[in-house]
Amino acid sequence: MVKINTCIFISGRGTNLKKLILNANGYNFPIKIKFVVCNNKNAPGLEFAKKWSVPYYIHNSNKNLAESKLLIKLKNHKINLILLAGYMRILSRRFIRMYGKTIINIHPSLLPKFKGLDTFKKVLDKKEKKTGCTVHHVNEKIDGGKIILKKFFYVDKKDNIESLKKKTQSLEYKAFSEAVIKVLK
Ligand code: GRF
Repeated sequence: MVKINTCIFISGRGTNLKKLILNANGYNFPIKIKFVVCNNKNAPGLEFAKKWSVPYYIHNSNKNLAESKLLIKLKNHKINLILLAGYMRILSRRFIRMYGKTIINIHPSLLPKFKGLDTFKKVLDKKEKKTGCTVHHVNEKIDGGKIILKKFFYVDKKDNIESLKKKTQSLEYKAFSEAVIKVLK
């Protein structure tokens, strides 16, 4: 199978990264993870990159400089797909345009509802009946790109922020990989 050269951007725990690495190691999954990009040298998710020997690159805190260097690196490694897996920095319009290829993000709500941060609190405050996750293309509007797929569950009366996060993330692990397959097929 032809595998697409892919780069995964993270900032934190990296549990979606872990799932993507495990899937990408399988024969039938259409991406090769060339390296991981992280804006936080203390991100626990870097441990997954180390464990499975995926190269990683921690970028500079100056956004313009970091993005310029990244664009060169992405080009040199012939990266055709970027997956944002809990990357907490907003990519500039310039970066998105110059990269010019597919960027996909995962968001812990049923978009277009609850863009941005604090999604689980918003879900509880609004007494939503259901919630879940969305995988979408990245454009210049935050959490506003074309939706690839969503997965949902019904909110229970006993749910709190922690339980919603746990349930949402277990859906994310399936949703992200399914979305990658859907986009690349
Ligand atoms: C996920 O919930 C994702 O939806 C959001 O950031 C979180 C990342 O979690 N964008 P992890 O770092 O993959 O554990």
